[in-house]
Amino acid sequence: MKCETNEHLEELVAQVRSLTKHGKVADYIPALGKVNGEDLSIALYDIKKECLYAGDYQKKFTLQSISKVLSLALVLMERGKDYVFEKVGMEPTGDPFNSISKLETSIPSKPLNPMINAGALAVTNMIPGYDLEDKWDKLIIFVQKLASDAEVDYDKEVAQSEYETAHLNRALCYFMKQHGIIEGDIEELMELYTRQCSIEMNCFDLARIGAVFALNGQDPDTGETIIPKDIARICKTFMVTCGMYDASGEFAMKVGIPAKSGVSGGIMAVVPEKYGIGIFGPALDEKGNSIAGLKLLQSLANEYDFSIF
Ligand code: DON
Repeated sequence: MKCETNEHLEELVAQVRSLTKHGKVADYIPALGKVNGEDLSIALYDIKKECLYAGDYQKKFTLQSISKVLSLALVLMERGKDYVFEKVGMEPTGDPFNSISKLETSIPSKPLNPMINAGALAVTNMIPGYDLEDKWDKLIIFVQKLASDAEVDYDKEVAQSEYETAHLNRALCYFMKQHGIIEGDIEELMELYTRQCSIEMNCFDLARIGAVFALNGQDPDTGETIIPKDIARICKTFMVTCGMYDASGEFAMKVGIPAKSGVSGGIMAVVPEKYGIGIFGPALDEKGNSIAGLKLLQSLANEYDFSIF
């Protein structure tokens, strides 16, 4: 795969980098607070097999909520749609990603979608396996395959840091266990979920995963089906309706492509039949999305008419 720095992308990165001053690195997971807020990088994986990048595209970051799309794809493949959507809904919330409020007010008491923390925890709870390590192996092998068998693993410090401080996520789990949405040992689930969120890669690997979705689940190198088309479509639809949390509507209006953000500052975006995009810019806006990353996508979308609408 030809991978080279691109002058135009470098210019765009230079133009929007100053925005990082107006953002804030997430520190509610203490280990995430250690990164440099001025970092900004992008990789654009053209399905015609070239990759352009700007900034330090090799720098690794943890996926955080971006991982929710990948665990959803795996669980839909392993368990089927009926099983999954009996326990997790399909509607956007308009609430912050970690909100507990809708769990209590919606009847039946199931999470509204798999992109909020409650829904993602329920999805991770559905990963099949004999024990934690067996479930983890299934997930990481799947992610490695999406990332072209790259040596992807998780950041142990970030995982441990989240595990020790994830009181709100634990509360969501116990609430859902009471209502029959999740089952089994909550501490084991927390360990699996925090490992999942701490899967780390660089923006090239992330762009490559985006390219698999751009190709409706096909491996861009071999043409092999990694994710069945209908499941890739479900994932992309959730990315459009809920991928940028309570900023998803504005993002659909201004950029108009499936995308998923994480509090680490990563964004995976998909231009159907054209590109997978991976971005890392850890300074976040007030809704938890990469502040400069959003601007970068907006500029590219305007210039190249990315919108699917
Ligand atoms: O569960 C959490 O709070 C984090 N591991 C992931 C949250 C996240 O990335 C939300 N993104 N905008």
